[in-house]
Amino acid sequence: MHMFDVAAIKQQFPIFDHHPDLVYLDNAATTQKPRAVLDAERFYYEHHNANVHRGAHRLAVAATDAFEGARATVARFINAATSDEIIFTRGTTEAINLIANTFGESLLAGDEIIVSTLEHHANIVPWQMLAQRTGVIVRQLNITPDGEIDMEHLHELLQSSRARLLAISHASNAIGSIQDIQSICDLSHQKQCKVLVDGAQAIAHLPVDVQALGCDFYVFSGHKAYGPTGIGVAYIEQSLLRDLPPWQGGGEMIDVVSFAGTTYAAAPQRLEAGTPAIAQAVGLGAALDWLATLDRSALLQHETQLHHQLKQGLESIEGIKIHGHAKNTVSLSSMTFAGAHPYDVAQFLDNKGIAVRVGHHCAQPLILTMGIQGTLRASLAIYNTQHDVALLLSTLAETLDLL
Ligand SMILES: Cc1ncc(COP(=O)(O)O)c(C=O)c1O
Repeated sequence: MHMFDVAAIKQQFPIFDHHPDLVYLDNAATTQKPRAVLDAERFYYEHHNANVHRGAHRLAVAATDAFEGARATVARFINAATSDEIIFTRGTTEAINLIANTFGESLLAGDEIIVSTLEHHANIVPWQMLAQRTGVIVRQLNITPDGEIDMEHLHELLQSSRARLLAISHASNAIGSIQDIQSICDLSHQKQCKVLVDGAQAIAHLPVDVQALGCDFYVFSGHKAYGPTGIGVAYIEQSLLRDLPPWQGGGEMIDVVSFAGTTYAAAPQRLEAGTPAIAQAVGLGAALDWLATLDRSALLQHETQLHHQLKQGLESIEGIKIHGHAKNTVSLSSMTFAGAHPYDVAQFLDNKGIAVRVGHHCAQPLILTMGIQGTLRASLAIYNTQHDVALLLSTLAETLDLL
């Protein structure tokens, strides 16, 4: 038995004070925010608000300290070698676009980027746009019928001497499969192929150590890890970061500007043009600091136990088909129904205060490969309870009887 007190955790999320009966199972889309995060943003605005990296007054210094402190927190949380490897972005999507527009632009026509079938659109479309601009080639990496990466196919694709980058998610948002990133990085690096890991669905659930994983890029969004919207992270390993050109131009990212020519600041500032999302970065720092105070392995065990309860329950209800059968998954289940459309089922669930997600989950190539149009996805987080899962299961059974 683990000693995880879910009631004590749940009490720290004010949304449940305002919606006491809410059963929130749309955590893969965005998580709710603990008081520690809301308080940190409010405290920042009430006590420290100023612009960062400029100005010779005490508030500017306090704001800069808070912002750079958040960068140090992120670096610690994912075990980056230095804070400079942490670039703040608006989210996962912007982080991948940043890498496509900097590292990606250094690739040559005919170079290859391997992209897995189960990626979120955010890890597909920026590479396709780069291919259109530069002539790099996007190679699709197959998945197995269970929804895991087809490692044989990866071996094959890496035989190409032009393979330069593998873009792969740590965990799939649509079916939950966790990739063995460490082995994938080892394999790719043997072929001088860099690896970008989309950690959007992993960061809140799995321990992430970028040095142990051995990845070159690791990206995630704050809002999926109990932090605010509008802030995300691109971790870029320092040897790559050094030579990366700027992406957006403007304030903060320059050294000297003149009409004769402009020089740029060192990273991370070189890649952070304009006033950053200061309060959101502070909020993200608070979220990760808060998570770090908890027993992460107990959290994971709690989520795994709830997911086990969910999977067992779903299997016992007639007419439900579960999609994705990877050996290792994060705590989400994707399903379709024999005689009912997922949207209709979700409507019934919503009437009972149960929030789930329906659709293609921004993973159309995966959904197409599975031969379906979409799924209903229930995704768990640390404040979910056995009662939440039981209510979902009983409401699903009732709904399918009615439809
Ligand atoms: C695996 C994955 N990648 C990327 C994204 C995009 O994240 P954001 O919309 O926060 O940029 C998501 C969000 O659903 C995701 O689940």
